[in-house]
Amino acid sequence: MDLKNKLCIVTGANSGIGKETARSFAADGAFVIMICRNEKRAKAARQELINDTGNTGIEIVLADLAIQHDVRSAADQIKQEFDQIDVLVNNAGLIANKREETIDGIEKTLAVNHLAPFLLTNLLWDHLQQSKDARVINVSSEVHRMGANAFDLDDLQIANNYSAMKAYGVSKLCNIMFTHELAKRCSDTSITTYSLHPGVVRTQLAEEAGWAMKLFYWIGKPFMRSPKSGAQTTIYLATSDEVTSMNGKYFKNKKVVEPSAIAFDDDLTPQLWEKSEKLTQLP
Ligand SMILES: NC(=O)c1ccc[n+]([C@@H]2O[C@H](COP(=O)([O-])OP(=O)(O)OC[C@H]3O[C@@H](n4cnc5c(N)ncnc54)[C@H](OP(=O)(O)O)[C@@H]3O)[C@@H](O)[C@H]2O)c1
Repeated sequence: MDLKNKLCIVTGANSGIGKETARSFAADGAFVIMICRNEKRAKAARQELINDTGNTGIEIVLADLAIQHDVRSAADQIKQEFDQIDVLVNNAGLIANKREETIDGIEKTLAVNHLAPFLLTNLLWDHLQQSKDARVINVSSEVHRMGANAFDLDDLQIANNYSAMKAYGVSKLCNIMFTHELAKRCSDTSITTYSLHPGVVRTQLAEEAGWAMKLFYWIGKPFMRSPKSGAQTTIYLATSDEVTSMNGKYFKNKKVVEPSAIAFDDDLTPQLWEKSEKLTQLP
C-alpha cells in the first residue's frame, strides 16, 4: 500500500518502536498522528521526525492511554478533524513493576496494553471503514506465551498473585485474542487487522519494570535489535499488499507464526471481547 497522503495513527510514537514506525510512515508521505501522553517528549519526537523526513504533516494528539476519558477525547479529536483513517497502529505499551489501578479502577497494564487499543479501535471504527484498505495493527509480544499459562478470564486484572511479567504476558495475549476476534468481525468490511512480535528491542520498555527486568535489558542491550529494526514488521503489515489475505494472523519477522493456541480459541475470544466492552463501557 502506498502511504502517500494516507492517515496513519501510531500510539506511543514518541519513542522506541513507535517513533521508528512513525518516522517510516512520514518518510513515505503519510499524514501521521502521534498519540502520546507527554507533550514535551512528543514535541521533541515530532520535530526530530520533521527534520529527518521533511514531512510537516505530523500531528500530536495528547492522551494518557491509562485513562479512558483521554482515549475517548483523542478519538473525538481525530474524528472531528479527519474523515477517514487508513492505518491504526496500537503500539503504546508498558511493563508495570507494581500492581496499580488507574483512575477508572482498572489494573494499569491491562488498561494501557489491551483496553486502550480495544476502546480506541472501536471508537474509530466508522472512520476506518471509510478507507478502501484500512489496517489495524496491534503490537503484541512473544511474552504472550507466558500470559497463556496464567490467563484467567475471571482475573484479567491479576488481582491474585500479581507479577509484572504475568500482567504484561496476559495483556499481550489479549492483543492477539482481540486481533483474532476483530478479524472475524471485520470480515465483511474493507478493514484488515494483524498482531505481531517486534523482536527483542533496545527501548525504554523496561523503564517502569522491576530491577530483574531492568538488569535483563541492561545486560542484553548489545544483543538486542535497534528500534528501527524492531519497527520493520509493523511497517510491513501497514504497507504490504500480500498480507490482506492473512487477516487476523500473528506475525514475527514479517512471517505468519502460530501464537499460543489459546490466542485463537473461538470460545474465549468473544468472551474477552464482551469483558472488554464492559470494562470500557462500550457500546
Ligand atoms: N522492546 C521490546 O523488546 C518489545 C518486545 C515485544 C513487544 N514490545 C512491544 O512494543 C511496543 C512498543 O514498546 P517499545 O519497546 O518501543 O517501548 P518504549 O520505547 O517504552 O515505547 C512505549 C511507548 O508507549 C508509550 N506509553 C506507555 N504508557 C502510556 C500511556 N499510559 N499513555 C500513552 N502512551 C503510553 C510510551 O510513552 P512515554 O514515553 O510517555 O512513556 C512510549 O511512547 C509495546 O507494546 C511493547 O509491549 C516491545
